[in-house]
Amino acid sequence: MSLRASLLVFALGFAAFTAQAAEPIVIKFSHVVAPDTPKGRAAEYFKKLAEERTKGAVKVEVYPNSQLYKDREEMEALQLGAVQMLAPSLAKFGPLGVRAFELFDLPYVFPNKETLYRVMDGDIGKKLFGMLEAKGITGLAFWDNGFKQMSANKPMRTVEDFKGLKMRIQSSKVLEAQMKALGANPQVMAFSEVYSALQQGVVDGTENPMSNLYTQKMHEVQKHLTLSDHGYLGYAVIVNKAFWAGLPADIRATLDKAMADTTVFERKIAQEENDEALAKVKASGYTQIYTLPYRDRVVWQQALLPVHKEFEDKIGRDLINSAYLVAAQVEKEKAAQTKAPAAKDKPGPAKAKPAAKPEKK
Ligand code: SIN
Repeated sequence: MSLRASLLVFALGFAAFTAQAAEPIVIKFSHVVAPDTPKGRAAEYFKKLAEERTKGAVKVEVYPNSQLYKDREEMEALQLGAVQMLAPSLAKFGPLGVRAFELFDLPYVFPNKETLYRVMDGDIGKKLFGMLEAKGITGLAFWDNGFKQMSANKPMRTVEDFKGLKMRIQSSKVLEAQMKALGANPQVMAFSEVYSALQQGVVDGTENPMSNLYTQKMHEVQKHLTLSDHGYLGYAVIVNKAFWAGLPADIRATLDKAMADTTVFERKIAQEENDEALAKVKASGYTQIYTLPYRDRVVWQQALLPVHKEFEDKIGRDLINSAYLVAAQVEKEKAAQTKAPAAKDKPGPAKAKPAAKPEKK
């Protein structure tokens, strides 16, 4: 080959190489909720930080509202590498074979957000993320949404009011047991199908934090809402393990920091989003809102506590007891700060006894 031809081949090869090197790393981030929710806004915030801080070396494509995949499908898509990042609700890890995440679904187990954050960011959270590795998944962060409220087309004031109600739930055995303990008939259903199922009367009601209820317009087809705070809904931000491990180390470090900063942002806006959603539902006039009084909350709690005992083996007694202990510690610190008796706050198993054995019904 002449010198000229060799130079041409080299130049073409170099151009192809630089074009290839300039291709950004694409992270497809799929989720099932609306963009104007705590999770939806945080996904966009992460995209912004990731793209800015890697100077365009990473491109994050966010797909909200089950545009790409529904609940169950998105887990499979992540494992297969069709998407790289998800933030499923903690109630959706059971079908993956990691039942310990259902700790977060236990009714009335977390009396406040402080307890939740300590559980998520401490040894329990680390242990849970460790369980995902064998499934080809790496856990990056826990995001918040909020405490769940009950909605239906009839009032739910007493436990008896749930008798026979068909209630949509996420794919969690704990939530199934929770609804059964109330006398309701639980129906597992993908999030994207809930609005039309409520509208068509396939189910009578559901449970969700206010931000999800409002952004899916569920309040337009639910006449009654009980502010019960009976359970919690949060998220685990997860990535395909092989994809994450294969990233250049400097890019991964930048993304880890972007995720840490996004988590601070996400937890800050979660309560605000839920408070705003409640105000909007109130203003809409579609739904009658009832706040469960303390005396009835205690009755609901008594009806639901057996679910803790029932799931000791599946979730792990140690894990449940560790969560009770964190709750008790937070309570103790609060009481010491305010010098007020701890029993004044919302009821929770940890307040009765740190490692309490739930009473039989
Ligand atoms: C979500 O917040 O990701 C969906 C929750 C649900 O399925 O109810």
